[in-house]
This record gives sequence, C-alpha cells and structure tokens, in this order.
Amino acid sequence: MARFTVALCGCGSRGLEAYAPFSKAWPEKMQVVAGADPRPERLEKLRKEYGVAPEMCFASDEELLAQPRLADVMIVATQDRMHVKDALAALDKGYHVLLEKPISPDLGECLALREKAHETGRAVVVCHVLRYTRFYAALQELIRGGAIGKVQTVEASENVAFWHFAHSFVRGNWRREDETSPMILAKCCHDMDILRWLVGRKCLKVQSFGSLDWFRPENAPAGAADRCLDCPVKDGCLYDAERLYLTDPHCGYERVKNGWPVNVVATDPDPDKLRAALRTGPYGRCVYRCDNDVADHQTVNLLFEGGASASFIVSAFTDECYRTVKVTGSLGQVEGNMTENTLRLQVFGKPERVIDLKEEQGEYSGHGGGDYGLLHSLFELLEAGRVDGLTGVDASVESHVMALAAEWSRAHGGQTVDLAEFERQAGTL
Ligand SMILES: NC(=O)c1ccc[n+]([C@@H]2O[C@H](COP(=O)([O-])OP(=O)(O)OC[C@H]3O[C@@H](n4cnc5c(N)ncnc54)[C@H](O)[C@@H]3O)[C@@H](O)[C@H]2O)c1
Repeated sequence: MARFTVALCGCGSRGLEAYAPFSKAWPEKMQVVAGADPRPERLEKLRKEYGVAPEMCFASDEELLAQPRLADVMIVATQDRMHVKDALAALDKGYHVLLEKPISPDLGECLALREKAHETGRAVVVCHVLRYTRFYAALQELIRGGAIGKVQTVEASENVAFWHFAHSFVRGNWRREDETSPMILAKCCHDMDILRWLVGRKCLKVQSFGSLDWFRPENAPAGAADRCLDCPVKDGCLYDAERLYLTDPHCGYERVKNGWPVNVVATDPDPDKLRAALRTGPYGRCVYRCDNDVADHQTVNLLFEGGASASFIVSAFTDECYRTVKVTGSLGQVEGNMTENTLRLQVFGKPERVIDLKEEQGEYSGHGGGDYGLLHSLFELLEAGRVDGLTGVDASVESHVMALAAEWSRAHGGQTVDLAEFERQAGTL
C-alpha cells in the first residue's frame, strides 16, 4: 500500500480537525507535508502536531499554489467561494484534489471544474461524506440489490438542531448567501446527493418553498441587547451564547471540551478564551440581530427519471441534529434514522427485519464514519490508478444542479424547475 502525501489548502475545522488526523490514525497511508492558512495559530498547529516543515507552511492559498506541486493530493478546505479557484489551480499543477463541498454556489463554476477535471485526467473527489457512512451505504446496497423492488418514493429530513443552526447559519460562516452559499446548498447538497444516489436515476425537476422566518429582529425578546454577554434578558433565552458555548448539554464546553463547535469560537478553547471571543466576536451576537439572510426552513419536491418522486424537509427547529429517510418500492419499504444507525426493512408479506449497523462502525468516526471512509476510499482509488470515485465531480455536479435549482425555485415562489434547462443555462434562468 502506497503512502500518499497531502497539502492542506485551508487549515480550519475541516482541513486540520477532520482530515489531518487521518495521518496519525493511518500514517502508512497519508502524510501531511504542506499547508496554507492566513491564521498563524492554525499553521503553528500544523507544524507542532503534524511535523510540517516551516518552509512548507504558507499564509495563503495563492502562496501555496504558486509553488511547484508539493504533494500527491491537495485537500481544498477553504471557504465555499474559494473552492473552484483553488481546485482549478491545483489541477493545473498536477494535484489530485479532495474538494470540500459545496463545489461552488455558482453553477457556471461547477461546470468549469467538471470540464477541467476531465481535461487534466486527475481525480476530483468531492466531500459528500454521507455516501461513505455505513448507514447510507447499507441502505443503498439494499435498494440496488432489489430488496424493495422498484423505488417509488423517498421521504427524507434533515433536522439541523436549533443550536447548530444558530452557530453555523445565523452567527457563523454560512449565515449569508453572498459570502458562502444558500442554506439548501451549504447544508443539503449532501442530501440532494444521497437522494440521487438512492433513487439511482437522474433528477428531472424540482420545486421548493422556504424562508428565513425566525432569526429576524422582530422576534427578539423585548429589551434584548445586541450581544448576549450584555443582555438583560439572557436568562430564559434559548440562544444565549454564554450558556450555549459554556454549559449547554448539546454543544457547550462542559460537554464537548475542545471539540466542535466551541473550537470554532476559539482555537484551543477554555472558558476564559470563550468568554473573550463572545465579548467581541461573531458568536456572541444576538441571534435576532445578526446580518444573516439564509432560509431557516425549506422543503423540496423532486421528480426522477422513471417516475420516482422524493420529498425533503430541512429545518433549524429541532432539538438534536439527525437525518431520517424512508424509501418505498414496489415490493417493500425501508426506513431509518442515521443517528440510531438502524434500518428497518419491511418486505411486504414478510416479517420486518431490523438491521443494526452500530457494530459495523469500526474505527471510523466523524460524520457517522464518513470523513475517514472518504479518505480511505480516495487513497484506494489513487492506488488503483483510477480517478472516478464514488463522489467524483460528475455525480457531485448533479447534486449541485438539484440544490441550486431548488434555491432558484424557493426564490421564485415555488416555480417548478427543469434541471436539464437549468444546467444548459448554467443556473441563470
Ligand atoms: N463535508 C462536510 O460535511 C463539511 C462539513 C463542514 C464544512 N464543510 C465545508 O468545508 C469548507 C471549510 O469549512 P470549515 O468548517 O473548515 O471552515 P473554517 O472557516 O474553519 O476553515 C476555512 C479555513 O480557510 C482559511 N482561509 C481563509 N482564507 C484563506 C486563504 N486565502 N488561503 C488559505 N486558507 C484560507 C481560514 O482561515 C480557515 O482556517 C467549507 O466550504 C464548508 O462548507 C464541509
């Protein structure tokens, strides 16, 4: 088994916390040899924890990409709107690319990347990590194996959780469409990808409704301040940042220690660092008085080739973060909850079969095992001299067309969008 060298373009949560640790778990497969990030503390972490040489640490993507090729693979884990620029430059340098999702909120850019990937013959694997989880892989295997006959409908939901939504989509990085992406792309390109994969046919049409309903100034409690630390009505507010990031049982420091999401609020967090960050930083703002504009709930209806249809709901307003799915077919139905990691298969006329996938999780962790499953599969692909992975650029562009068309529909009163036409016009209907 060959060992692949990796350059990290962007050493944030994904680059440094989700992917770099793979090189410690399986040093025989992956070695981090270079990285770029404008935040000096991230580069210091790269040097200290991964032994990357100082001359291989760069202050920007541009500096890194101005060098000759430094590794076999570039992991592009910068923010959404930088992905395509970085990936195109990396392909030109001869890297294989592991590209964070979404590829881009601009469909024209997604199509340009697909073309460049074909032209250079290098691998572009998009981080649609759910396909690599035991849960969705087992579900897809059952369906492809004919267990429920011909797929008729899929019903899926993404329950974001009120605290996660506030962290990422109200106070955090994905709150504004002009800076990153619409929520249905940022959060749900995964779900669109999974729907397409489970049905096994091309999506033909989508239609969507949704809005930013709750996280708006008119819903602030009377007397609320702009920042939680100064707020006279913080007690009893579900979104008080001090409580959320310090003591909340879902996401507070007392529970997650230096894990996500508190390590986004402060690097190597402790209660003092967190309070200091909440005093001046974005995560200490009142959720009703932020500059957010992305939808907080959305529904999408989808029609696939061959007649199958799907219905998907994403909502900020759930207690926990989890996905559910139910697929019906001509011979049976199968449903499950990703967090429970169990599938219930009912072939009509036979006893129900409960498939418990928890034991099969093995050493993988992060996104239900998807993060490491993705890297594992990338290295297997490269080792075999292939470039067409499970979440390659062709399949991934399809899910981006679905998500961006859903957003277009939502913004245009729920009009039905023909995906072939939407793609032909590169998303500019
Ligand atoms: N696959 C998944 O399930 C998944 C989950 C979360 C996030 N993401 C995606 O991963 C990407 C990164 O997200 P994140 O949570 O790591 O965000 P992040 O903000 O923690 O990381 C981005 C990093 O890029 C750095 N950066 C900014 N400008 C740069 C430049 N010019 N050159 C190099 N680096 C630069 C930032 O300093 C930061 O450290 C996003 O596109 C996000 O949508 C994917």
